[in-house]
Amino acid sequence: MSKEISLSAIKADIGGLVGHSGIHPALLDRAQEEMAAAKKKGVLVDFHVTHCGDDLELIMTHTHGVDSEKCHTLAWETFSACTQVAKELHLYGAGQDLLSDAFTGTVRGMGPGLAEMSFVERTAETILVLMADKTAAGAWNLPLYKMFADPFNSAGLVIAPVMHEGFRFEVLDMKANRVIVLDAPQEIYDLLMFIGASGQYVVRTIWSKKGEIAASSSTQKLAHIAGKYVGKDDPVCIVRSQAEFPAVGEVLEPFTNPFIVAGWTRGSHHGPLIPCSLEQATPSRFDGPPRVVALGFQLADGRLVGPRDMFADIAFDEARRKANKIADYLRLHGPFEPHRLPLEEMEYTTMPQIMERLAGRWQPAEEEKAPAVAGR
Ligand code: F6R
Ligand code: MG
Ligand code: MG
Repeated sequence: MSKEISLSAIKADIGGLVGHSGIHPALLDRAQEEMAAAKKKGVLVDFHVTHCGDDLELIMTHTHGVDSEKCHTLAWETFSACTQVAKELHLYGAGQDLLSDAFTGTVRGMGPGLAEMSFVERTAETILVLMADKTAAGAWNLPLYKMFADPFNSAGLVIAPVMHEGFRFEVLDMKANRVIVLDAPQEIYDLLMFIGASGQYVVRTIWSKKGEIAASSSTQKLAHIAGKYVGKDDPVCIVRSQAEFPAVGEVLEPFTNPFIVAGWTRGSHHGPLIPCSLEQATPSRFDGPPRVVALGFQLADGRLVGPRDMFADIAFDEARRKANKIADYLRLHGPFEPHRLPLEEMEYTTMPQIMERLAGRWQPAEEEKAPAVAGR
């Protein structure tokens, strides 16, 4: 059997310039140094350091498998080294996503988000890494569904014999911490019942019916880990593309509609997800609106050839224009739902404090009774 290559995308917000709107180049430089040293030592096959908004993104190939201590330790140490730089520069929220000092060999449950997969590299292995800022885990539900289950989006589901069987979705229930596997197209109505509620259910993994990994997304919910709001999850997702998987254009097509996601300012507002180039991934208006960047690579024996900045294309201009119009419209709602998130999602912000402060002032309301009707 040919040897498997592992692809890990691990990200953390460890300090912003200015506020939460972007990243300082010194952090990217520091991460680059750490990664280059690890590659030299043979820990990594290859890497690409990038960012989306204020999130530092480490894209790594290696041979240690998913959840490897070596790779996670490297990511953690890189984030820690960058945090020092962020502290020296007094960047905003230095070390924000490193929630604990007690690192135990995995970044899971420690704050950073991660998407990982292992596979035997195809002759031409096309990979897309989707990275978002100012939004929550669950933001990938809609686009992943469209890519892998909607024939109106992915023509290959109808036309390509290798995709015609459909795909298998693993859904994580973030509240109950349990998973279910559902088949598309056979069980799409059941699947949609869950993943349409992206605040609770998130698509974690997708496989082909032959069992080949197709997509992996970060499902870490920062607020659940920290028990309070410390910043939004800003998730990452890896998608394999072409041949038996959706074509590059089919992976990107869902983003031509800037669909609504949870996040934006103070992680407490619904807003449109704007597909944009790396250069445009600088959320500033009302700390947003939320952004998504897509970097494309070809793998060559684990080497990351690329990237191409996939949304740096005039074909996404209309999506961006539409997103700005939606943003104007939603902003007019100010602190009202549905612009502001529903109360259950505000549990991790100031809501509990307000409830506690006003607890004694709530009085029982008189019972409402239907007026008596004559003759009954
Ligand atoms: C959203 C985000 C920002 C901050 C906001 C307030 O994910 O990071 O909108 O919530 O700028 O930041 P603090 O609370 O640090 O002053
Ligand atoms: Mg931030
Ligand atoms: Mg961020």
